[in-house]
Amino acid sequence: MAGIGHEIIRLEEAVSTNSLIMGRRDYLDRHGLVVIARHQTGGRGRMGRHWSSLPGRQLQFSMVVHPRFPAVDFPVMSLLTGVAVAQAIQALLGLAPQLKWPNDVIVAGRKVCGILVEGVSGGRKPRLVVGIGINCTGRSDDFPPELRDRLTTLEQETGCTVDMDALLHAVLDHVDALCARMAEGGKADVLALWRRYALLGEGERLRIPTQEGEREGVPESVTPEGYLIVRLDDGTRRVHVSGELEWLR
Ligand code: BTN
Repeated sequence: MAGIGHEIIRLEEAVSTNSLIMGRRDYLDRHGLVVIARHQTGGRGRMGRHWSSLPGRQLQFSMVVHPRFPAVDFPVMSLLTGVAVAQAIQALLGLAPQLKWPNDVIVAGRKVCGILVEGVSGGRKPRLVVGIGINCTGRSDDFPPELRDRLTTLEQETGCTVDMDALLHAVLDHVDALCARMAEGGKADVLALWRRYALLGEGERLRIPTQEGEREGVPESVTPEGYLIVRLDDGTRRVHVSGELEWLR
């Protein structure tokens, strides 16, 4: 199986690189294909949110993954991708990235990268489309006012210009290596790596929906499936599988 990034399609503009791949059977069939766009006019985030694109200032790309691990482990792909981005940023730029469940990459308390993993079922084999957006050059002030407090860029954090192509290839290599680890039965290793970067414990607070309404608590750990374990303020624990989650700090 060819590695992730063996084929890279570079576009000046796309509506959304995830949507583009999802809509093309010929792309979905090519494991490891990467589509990168300088600008996205309709970039998508998790939970149906909009992804704000600044032309030429972000690394915005999606890749096709034909997972060689069981479907029950597909949720781990999301965490795995966060680890790959964190490893690449750490190795290349010497920063200390952290991960907010499931996969926001945080530097100095602010988001520097978002990840959107989508699955395509039906057909002979399952396919995942993994989209990554990394704020590389410019400053948080370049973003719409409502986002400025929550976002940062790699340039802002390092004071240096970021080699976006080197970062792209570093991320792809790390995703490839971690996927190989999953295929060899190394899910626990991948989750252990995720925990190493994870923002968990007393310093963090979040609000999750429960059957009894919204509840606040502390993100404690992840289950072997990669779901978030939250200790609510009444001391009980809940497993948060997916869906809306609000970080309070
Ligand atoms: C999030 O933070 O909610 C996820 C953001 C994911 C953005 C990337 S940019 C490349 C790819 N194409 C998209 O439309 N979204 C992802």
